[in-house]
Amino acid sequence: MPPAIEARERLILALDVDNQDEAKRLADLLGEKISFYKVGLELFTAAGFEAVDWLLRRGKQVFLDIKWLDIPATVGAVVRVASGRGVHFATVDGNGGSEMMRAAAGNKKGDIKLLCLTVLTSLGDQALKEMGKGFTVDQLVGLRTEAAIESGMDGVITSGREVAPVRAIAESRRKDGFLIVTPGMRLPGTARDDHQRAQDPEAAVRDGADYIVVGRPICRAADPRDEAQRFIDAIERGLSSRRPAGA
Ligand code: C5P
Repeated sequence: MPPAIEARERLILALDVDNQDEAKRLADLLGEKISFYKVGLELFTAAGFEAVDWLLRRGKQVFLDIKWLDIPATVGAVVRVASGRGVHFATVDGNGGSEMMRAAAGNKKGDIKLLCLTVLTSLGDQALKEMGKGFTVDQLVGLRTEAAIESGMDGVITSGREVAPVRAIAESRRKDGFLIVTPGMRLPGTARDDHQRAQDPEAAVRDGADYIVVGRPICRAADPRDEAQRFIDAIERGLSSRRPAGA
């Protein structure tokens, strides 16, 4: 059996800052508290692989969250490039369909894990309607999860509210190690910012989330280390309240 992942290692910090100096300042401040960082569109646009490589050299795990969306051949080629750069997780946009996800999964090498973005946590049913999608968020998350499993993706990134149904789909397909990563995490009573589908990290982990992604609540806190610890404590509580398998 693989070793259990500690609560601290399940917290992924979204380094959503616009320059490498600020990214370094935050990572230095957080030190051993954070072992996994997400480099997203903002920092990658500002600093590219310099930001990724700097984190990897410090022994951190890196989630490259660019949400790749293009024709299958292009996404397959991007996955080949990223596989050689040592990143641990990366996202593929579920809007690209099964063929694109199959091309992504078929081109990965080494330990990189590919996550399908189901539906952005900033979107709700009304926004999907305006976008011309004929599904509710719950329906689309279900369809994207099925497509991700069939296409050979390693997991999904989805709101904490959808963890239980996604886990049920994965279990029904006997996909034991299917990864569920949840952004839009907010501790009870705090601002949800632009997330329509914000969720309490404790509940997301209790329902079966493997990792949670947190950005602004920690990066913009008066004391980022203390705030990170509050999220780690919530993960710990979520893990303790999980039902034992088969119960
Ligand atoms: O600051 P906050 O904790 O809201 O940051 C959430 C992070 O998760 C952002 O970097 C955002 O790009 C990312 N994300 C998300 N919803 C998704 C996928 C990724 O908010 N569905």
